[in-house]
Amino acid sequence: MTDTNKTASLTVPGIAEPIELAMHSGTLGPDVIDVSKLVGKGLFTYDPGFVSTAACDSDLTYIDGDNGVLLHGGYPIEQLAEHSNYLELCYLLLNGELPTKQQAEEFETTITNHTMVHEQLAQFFRGFRRDAHPMAIMCGVVGALSAFYHDSLDIDEEHHRSVTAHRLIAKMPTLAAMSYKYSQGQPFMYPRNDLGYAANFLYMMFGTPCENYEPNPIIAKAMDRIFLLHADHEQNASTSTVRLAGSTGANPFACVAAGIAALWGPSHGGANEAVLNMLAEIGDESRIDEYVAKAKDKDDPFRLMGFGHRVYKNYDPRAKVMQQTCHEVLSELGVEDSPTLKMAQRLEQIALEDPYFVERKLYPNVDFYSGIILKAIGIPEELFTVIFATGRTPGWIAQWNEMISGSYKIGRPRQLYRGPAKRDYTPMAKR
Ligand code: CMC
Repeated sequence: MTDTNKTASLTVPGIAEPIELAMHSGTLGPDVIDVSKLVGKGLFTYDPGFVSTAACDSDLTYIDGDNGVLLHGGYPIEQLAEHSNYLELCYLLLNGELPTKQQAEEFETTITNHTMVHEQLAQFFRGFRRDAHPMAIMCGVVGALSAFYHDSLDIDEEHHRSVTAHRLIAKMPTLAAMSYKYSQGQPFMYPRNDLGYAANFLYMMFGTPCENYEPNPIIAKAMDRIFLLHADHEQNASTSTVRLAGSTGANPFACVAAGIAALWGPSHGGANEAVLNMLAEIGDESRIDEYVAKAKDKDDPFRLMGFGHRVYKNYDPRAKVMQQTCHEVLSELGVEDSPTLKMAQRLEQIALEDPYFVERKLYPNVDFYSGIILKAIGIPEELFTVIFATGRTPGWIAQWNEMISGSYKIGRPRQLYRGPAKRDYTPMAKR
């Protein structure tokens, strides 16, 4: 962040002189007005939903929502999706640069060597009902990791932070697969270290001790890409939650558990599950117009899931890659004429032409096609957001680490109080 030598001048009724506010520039994106001094003048800024507020500075990810641009460490997501892989992107997010061949191999070995979870953690799963939502399980078990890894909880120790990052990235697929296996009443599968990250996840999901299971490399590649497309997305709700929790000094496992909870909602990571539920509810292409009309009706709370984004006012660049991956997977599985895909494509076409969506710049987002791919792979809908959480883990931990290794304050927003003014307690007999 650099000072711009520019200032913004704020005239406030009741304050004689205009208040001069410093402005800062980043590498890309809008300048920011530094309002941190306003509290000293007895003023707060007001921005519900943080729509105009930069809450931190960061080197990791840049989004230009108007032009549909997403960069990690400066690299466009389309190039990363085509030429890179998930673990390489994890390395980039954690270290700021792409790895050399040797660094990439060492990193992959490190992650591979951390994929197993403590045997005692399996007991933890058994406390849940079999029909528990896997996101409920993930909130619990990821938070519980802090009870297992006391040796890496000193957040002021760089090595501890690094080991924790590796543990989280390595263990998330294992925990995700365990939450699925538990719901099926099947035995947990230990990770296989001869497989790549995504292939190992598929193995832990779909393998059983009874027979050999070799993951399809094309599906494994698609799975890797799904993880990659979710890896980081700057200060979204779950990442901001991780940062806010982390700003108190809480341990990173607890912070990531908080991020998982925030991700669960249908406005955020829960949207991929909601897209499939919505397509199932629509049921047939002939009913699409009816649902588009519902989405446009202000008296109807229904929204087209998988459309719209707080930041993208253009096509979400991840959605474009996801759409292409969707075709690759469905073609590999021989189900390219799937009615769900056809319905999704028709819905997209209608929405992109409808003035309501055009005027509001509501384009398909990352969640629109991911669910169709995951369903085709055989992953149940309740697990979709868990896949998102797994993919997002390097972003959460890299953002947390960036905050902890720099200077930061406890996050403590203020409010515009609209409740009753001070009044005396009324005894019950007089109420
Ligand atoms: N269907 C119908 N109308 C919509 C939709 C939608 N999906 N999204 C926004 N609108 C309308 C909204 O009613 C409002 O209209 P008006 O100006 O007439 O009141 C206008 O578009 C602006 O919407 P907003 O709610 O002010 O926008 P927001 O930035 O607060 O919300 C959003 C962004 C993603 C929560 C919202 O677009 C939405 O609910 N989308 C569906 C859920 C979804 O797909 N979420 C996944 C987001 S991408 C993955 C991730 O990052 O988690």
